[in-house]
Amino acid sequence: MKAHAHVVGWGKYVPQHVLTNDNLSQVVDTSDEWIRTRTGIHERHVVEDGETTASMAIQAARQALEVAGLRPAQLDLIVVATVTPDYLFPATACLVQDALGASRAAAFDISAGCSGFIYGLSVAAHLLSGEVYQTALVIGAETLSCITDWTDRDTCVLFGDGAGAVALRAGENEGGVLATVLGADGSGGDLLHVPAGGSRMPTSHRTVAEKLHFIRMKGREVFRFAVRAVPAATRDVLEKAGLSLDDLDLLVPHQANQRIIEAAARALGVPLEGVYSNLERYGNTSAASIPIALSEAAEEGCIQPGDLVVCVGFGAGLTWGAAAIRWTRPQPPPAPLWQRLLRRLRYNLAALRSWLRQQLRRVSALWTPDVLDGERGREE
Ligand code: ACO
Repeated sequence: MKAHAHVVGWGKYVPQHVLTNDNLSQVVDTSDEWIRTRTGIHERHVVEDGETTASMAIQAARQALEVAGLRPAQLDLIVVATVTPDYLFPATACLVQDALGASRAAAFDISAGCSGFIYGLSVAAHLLSGEVYQTALVIGAETLSCITDWTDRDTCVLFGDGAGAVALRAGENEGGVLATVLGADGSGGDLLHVPAGGSRMPTSHRTVAEKLHFIRMKGREVFRFAVRAVPAATRDVLEKAGLSLDDLDLLVPHQANQRIIEAAARALGVPLEGVYSNLERYGNTSAASIPIALSEAAEEGCIQPGDLVVCVGFGAGLTWGAAAIRWTRPQPPPAPLWQRLLRRLRYNLAALRSWLRQQLRRVSALWTPDVLDGERGREE
């Protein structure tokens, strides 16, 4: 690697609407006590009308750009990790690109379950360190509430909605993303999946009636996989970076279950103070959980320049991944009012630009001679 991919911005968004364990116990046969002791979750945020994976990703992205002091037009790449995109296609990353007005950016989605953010970070960091790009946004965003069966107590107590983002910038100074490791074991795909809606089982009346568009999970087996994968990936990434657990300042694991987090910390011999957890407030937000946690940890001052942070995830696929990051940027003070207003104006202009491009496309279809008609004429 020639350049270094530095984390220069971070942001998060969670919907306003909060669903507590007590709320859930009125819908399914569960209790606050069961959910707290078995998972560590107290409440989760879920979307309301009009909120989608893209709309949450856009909010998180704006914050990350603000912290980074980057303009959308400076972005070279936008990666969105999600298993709950707005559409099968186009990619949610393209919706984010359009809303931000990131006119120069390439944009694509990554599907790697709860490890998706680490996969996205790894791809983006390599593109920056390989000097292909200078800047990137990596976002993890999920609307799991739309693929949750709210009558299934085994799964509905676990998940929440939200988005987190980091901005990356290539630099010559040491630090940033030092190493990443990624892994997959597709033989475990059935442990955590949504059976229908893809080419194997296209949507039909039957798939809807049989609730095959919702998350199916073999919780105990996923649990067993997770408590092995998290310590192993953490050790691997530290070794790859030429560092050891003694160098670690903060572990930011995927937020799925407090028991998994604690078992992993025990296996690594890391004290719980060195492991970030906000699971109790958000539940499992899949690909969004690590960037939300990372962003909160930075905002709360739990991460300082010079610190070594390891982010580690596991999830559907099965997949796992870890990233070792040497933090190089402090949390900046809030931007002055005029800068915030300028930013808002820029996003309004981006919306106007998008609308104008749509209108222009319509008008040009009416007024320019149709290329296909020309081709047809020649064939005749
Ligand atoms: N409320 C009350 N009781 C419940 C609930 C509930 N919400 N859910 C299950 N139970 C019952 C079960 O029916 C079972 O009852 P039984 O003994 O009479 O059969 C009992 O509680 C114990 O069930 P277990 O499944 O053994 O509970 P466990 O302690 O394993 O906890 C859990 C279940 C929380 C799902 C745990 O296995 C887990 O967290 N697994 C990992 C899940 C995970 O991390 N998934 C995300 C992966 S990342 C991604 O890609 C989205």
